[in-house]
Amino acid sequence: MKTWREYPTPSLLLDIKKMKRNISRMYCSAEENGVQLRPHIKTHKSLRVAEAQKAAGASGLTAATISEAEVFVEGGFTDLLLAFPLADSEKCRRLAKLNKKARVIASIDEAGQAPLLQEAAAKNGLTIEVWVKVNAGLNRCGTEPGEETADLVEKLQAYDALHVTGLYTHAGHAYGAPDQTAREEIAREEAQAVLVSASACEKRGIAIPHRSVGSTPTYEISGAFEGITEVRPGNGVFFDGVQAGLGVCSLNECAVTVSATVAAVKKDRVIFDAGSKSLTLEKGAHGNESIKGFGTIAEPEILRGKELTRLSEEHGVLDQTGMQGRLKLGQKIRIIPNHACTAVNLYDRYLVLDGEEVVDEWPVDARGRNQ
Ligand SMILES: Cc1ncc(COP(=O)(O)O)c(C=O)c1O
Repeated sequence: MKTWREYPTPSLLLDIKKMKRNISRMYCSAEENGVQLRPHIKTHKSLRVAEAQKAAGASGLTAATISEAEVFVEGGFTDLLLAFPLADSEKCRRLAKLNKKARVIASIDEAGQAPLLQEAAAKNGLTIEVWVKVNAGLNRCGTEPGEETADLVEKLQAYDALHVTGLYTHAGHAYGAPDQTAREEIAREEAQAVLVSASACEKRGIAIPHRSVGSTPTYEISGAFEGITEVRPGNGVFFDGVQAGLGVCSLNECAVTVSATVAAVKKDRVIFDAGSKSLTLEKGAHGNESIKGFGTIAEPEILRGKELTRLSEEHGVLDQTGMQGRLKLGQKIRIIPNHACTAVNLYDRYLVLDGEEVVDEWPVDARGRNQ
């Protein structure tokens, strides 16, 4: 069997044992908190990874786009949340079509989105389940918690082909939390945003059986609040440099790395064949400041933790001041991407590793499915 060093660089490497440990951490946390687990597939976009999540106890999946949902329904998954509101009739039609084969829950955060979805559902003789998206402070989509959310839920009762059964939120701003205390506070607000909204709905006689929260930095905390029924971590299946920077995991737990070859060694710098088209230029979203460089070296051990200094499209550059002689021309290295979710989307396949050996190749099935 070949090792990853015998494959062309840059390649996307997935350490299967680390991934399984990460999946098990997700499931154990959900079980301990007595909530269901609906992992977000935007991170891995892989049917094989989702199958491993399902085998470990995930009750459903979350998708960000209708074309991602199409790939996973086609791949045999029957319970998905489309965590993005739709505002065009073509996508509503596709969502209705998917609902003939599977439970694909729609998102709404404005009353104006309802008529298109109602029309698509009614034309197909269906009732589509809807979860209302609540803003917990990320200030992206979402109704404000409490009465504003209940007002929308009440308005949606007028649409006979739509059935509101849940509320959800995503505290992505936890990525910008300066420390653990701030992250815990955001997680508390995440849970409260859903809980106060559900209670406002129930005071109006509308039952909200599903109350879903989650981002990787918060779900282990927000999922513990009484009344929350589900968590939706995405990135935690792999982890990455940003999560390590936040203290959510160690570098050693990161399951995805990118291989690279030392292409040139200069006096003050080393150049690799992995640049922004292999790692992305991301340094973390939502105000994250823990990351200074463009990817963290995982291997060789002697340079573990060093961050790439700059990237152009095909070049990665490491300032080697004070570290001269540690890397040789032609040497293979592994880099932990800052953000695994966007890095994965640059590749057609994972090389699946058991230790150093490549034991399988898995397609990135929903790669580029952005529409
Ligand atoms: C609605 C929603 N749920 C869950 C997630 C998963 O977040 P994370 O990757 O931080 O676990 C995301 C990520 O963007 C999201 O937008």
